[in-house]
Amino acid sequence: MSDSIRSLLEEVQAFTPSSKEELEQFRLKFTGKKGALTDLFARMKDVAPESRKAYGQEVNALKEAAEAKLNQFREQFEQSVSDRGVEKDPTLPGDPLPAGSRHPLSLVRAEIIQIFSRVGFNVSDGPEIEDDWHNFSALNFPPEHPARDMQDTFFIDLKSDPSLYQGALALRTHTSSIQVRVMESQEPPIRTICPGRVYRNEAISARAHCFFHQVEGFYIDKGVSFADLRQTLLYFAQEMFGHDTRIRLRPSYFPFTEPSAEMDISCSICKGSGCNVCKHSGWVEILGCGMIDPAVLQNGNIDPEVYSGFAFGMGVERITMLRYGIRDLRIFSENDVRFLDQFKGVY
Ligand code: PHE
Repeated sequence: MSDSIRSLLEEVQAFTPSSKEELEQFRLKFTGKKGALTDLFARMKDVAPESRKAYGQEVNALKEAAEAKLNQFREQFEQSVSDRGVEKDPTLPGDPLPAGSRHPLSLVRAEIIQIFSRVGFNVSDGPEIEDDWHNFSALNFPPEHPARDMQDTFFIDLKSDPSLYQGALALRTHTSSIQVRVMESQEPPIRTICPGRVYRNEAISARAHCFFHQVEGFYIDKGVSFADLRQTLLYFAQEMFGHDTRIRLRPSYFPFTEPSAEMDISCSICKGSGCNVCKHSGWVEILGCGMIDPAVLQNGNIDPEVYSGFAFGMGVERITMLRYGIRDLRIFSENDVRFLDQFKGVY
């Protein structure tokens, strides 16, 4: 073995890099394009034919030793680099995070808000823990009304701490409580919708829950009539369920509206021909409504001699069930991803 090859081989064998950079220097020196090995192989043609075989074996031995070193330390450095999570190629695509989906109730609430905002309604809010005045008294509920019974309403027990007790507090039973709050703080014309969660003391089943969501809406101005109410609701029903949807108003009773009505839409599932959802009647009820009782306007400091208004309230769960063919109310609060995933990509 020639001296020069031997000393190179010794250098290779003694080499232990302490950094990736040192290893790279080593690679350039030995196996790189302009490295020692390229040079040595190029010199093969100058070697006397009888020594060529031995020379080739020596150079090959050097090459193998250099490559073995490179492989040994390349692995070691790459390992520790990825362990530290640094020096990754920044142009590589990132690790994908699975995207969530919007809850169907949020989707439908957003759609209701959009439909009404297109005809000039804004959005109002109110507290979920509500006093007797806004949830009941100001809305004309007489003291003996069954809704005021513990059986129907979750009252909050403040009597145990008399310093807190300033009259009954309850979880609001409907979003109509927001009506009076808005009237107290604004002058007509008022045209607003109020989405929110409401609570009732009911056993949980496929058709009832102890909490659900409503959207209240009302419009107060000079000369607002029942015809305005009907047209607004027809517009809403057709935007929400399709332009061939028909509506039907049936006389009803609410303490805070006079006259009062319940609105049915032609069944969006069977298009009126009869199915389980509409109980073969072709119609499904979706909301309560009416002209705001003059006494309620007065309670909100609005003069009923000058102004009139209409109000309506709908259940978001009910609309969502009709919209997506969902049969059981409980599924909305179970957080089952197999259900929620079906709304991926719906906005
Ligand atoms: N608050 C009523 C309910 O919860 C709905 C309603 C709202 C009715 C506004 C008339 C006017 O059933």
